Amino acid sequence: MADEKIWSDFIYDLKTKNDIVDIISSYLPVTQKGRGFWTLCPFHNDRNPSMSINKEGQYYHCFVCRAGGDVIKFVQEYESFTFFEAVELLAKRANMEVPLFNTNFDKDIAQKKKLKDDCFAACLVAAKFYNKNLYSPNGKHALTYLKKRGLSLSAIKQFGFGLSTDWTSLVDALKESGISTEVALKAGLIGKRKEGSFFDSLAQRLIIPIFDINGKVIAFGGRTFSEDKTIAKYKNTFITPVFDKSKTLYGLNFAKKAKQGGNLDFIIIVEGYMDAVMLHQAGFVQAVASMGTSLTVEQARLIKRLVSTVYICFDGDAAGKGATLRGLDLLKEQGLEVKVAEMPLDKDPDEYIKQNGSQAYKSLLAKSLPLTDYKLKLSKQKYLPKTESKAAINDFRRKYTEEALSLLKPLSAVERETYIKAVSEDTGLSVDFLRKQLESNSVVKQQAQENVSSVKTGQLKAEAFVLACKLNNKSYADDDKTFVSRSDFINEVFDYIKICRKSNKRATLGDLYRLDKAANNEEVISTIINAPFLSDEIDRLCYLDCLEMLTKTKLTQQLEELKNAYTIESDADIKRDILTKIAVLTQEINAKA
Ligand code: UTP
Ligand code: MN
Repeated sequence: MADEKIWSDFIYDLKTKNDIVDIISSYLPVTQKGRGFWTLCPFHNDRNPSMSINKEGQYYHCFVCRAGGDVIKFVQEYESFTFFEAVELLAKRANMEVPLFNTNFDKDIAQKKKLKDDCFAACLVAAKFYNKNLYSPNGKHALTYLKKRGLSLSAIKQFGFGLSTDWTSLVDALKESGISTEVALKAGLIGKRKEGSFFDSLAQRLIIPIFDINGKVIAFGGRTFSEDKTIAKYKNTFITPVFDKSKTLYGLNFAKKAKQGGNLDFIIIVEGYMDAVMLHQAGFVQAVASMGTSLTVEQARLIKRLVSTVYICFDGDAAGKGATLRGLDLLKEQGLEVKVAEMPLDKDPDEYIKQNGSQAYKSLLAKSLPLTDYKLKLSKQKYLPKTESKAAINDFRRKYTEEALSLLKPLSAVERETYIKAVSEDTGLSVDFLRKQLESNSVVKQQAQENVSSVKTGQLKAEAFVLACKLNNKSYADDDKTFVSRSDFINEVFDYIKICRKSNKRATLGDLYRLDKAANNEEVISTIINAPFLSDEIDRLCYLDCLEMLTKTKLTQQLEELKNAYTIESDADIKRDILTKIAVLTQEINAKA
């Protein structure tokens, strides 16, 4: 317990000594307007300053993309750091020592951090070792291979290519550098044979180091030199404490650098390592590789921190596949604008650029289609009538219309209008008819959803207002009055405020974001932060009203539960008991009405 107090005091001091306006100003130009501070939001493609920095509450909040948090969260997001890395940076800046931990919880975190640091160190040793091999006499064939593929020496250096010459020398090199076998195994660098000996996981392959967004080596890809189709072309490090292929994008560290130099408007996602490297060499610093797997939410989030537009440029045959399309939907769901740049059927970007040059690739990007256009095009191709017979044309009309309408359903009204016209032209069906079809399918569901959510939002708004009063240290809200929310997050915030109050600390609005560990309560936080305060007198009445309403809601819920219990219960004594409770509760509720 004592340690938890040390830690929470430390974080409190850390935040006091790192004023949020100072910190953000050290990264971005900040302007003061009246009492507020504003800057261009670095987390979406911002044209007018939409990020407000609140000095009193020590938090930032973007009114467009809803990014927000305290000073630690800002550093985390801006630098793509973990919570601990951000804390370390801020501690250094304020000349503070990060305390050591003793509780089990903190020990666990400290152990994990140590293991991660060890893995980073091991990967770095391996990267240097492989790299040296490439430029040694034994590496001649590999260097020739890379040059033959059209890579320049500077690209080979920039991407840190390397070579594994045999099965064991990596094992020895790691040992000599003081990396334990345990760590080398955990970092996926070596494997263990049944009889107990160790071997290089990527033996005799061309080595491609994989970097995290900050440029640390976290894993490796290894390409075989063999043409033998029965051997896996690439092998990659498996999941380790520092690497998960599905949460990484190859080349993103270089894109992040370009962004920090103000030089990144979009990202291009390709499939392969070599595609990404070749594009960089041709001047497309926006290129990152998905490493052959379908895209994930984590990857979409990584991209969204840097840009709001993404071009998909997969191998000629890949883009239309079902799994790929789902990956693209996922990008769109994260709020990215998705465009599809199509490769000729049998080409990948690497080959295309080598053959046609970067100018041709640029026009190919310019010709790319927005995701919906692309999907409509695929659908049209799929059902295109094979003959000109009436039956074939009708068949096309029916199947294509059905699929097209289901594609348009999730879109905004404006987008729908644009595409309905296109579908009408494709099918010869009238715009009016198509519009009616669309509406008849979607409106009813939407209304039902709105009804449910308005009940919830009423309660949520009341809860948010109560919390906002407390977090803004309103004198009338300095009490122990309580409520229990259906939202775990709100309950947690409420508990936190109570704890702060006991130790005479001030909870601030900025703390909300840290409590939102899963980062999925942005809407609630936004409601709390934007509480509509008027004058103290009115606000006090509103505060009491909200509390009253919440208590009543809780009592009504309890009453419902009791009624349920009554119908289920079979024991007569207990039934009588429940009945008495129901009577008492009903009286209590009526007294409040
Ligand atoms: P590709 O087969 O398209 O490879 O796989 P490529 O990049 O064109 O390879 P080169 O040009 O022949 O060298 C695309 C990506 O899928 C992953 C790799 O990340 C590769 O870059 N992959 C592919 C694997 O992980 N394992 C494999 O066996 C094959
Ligand atoms: Mn290729």
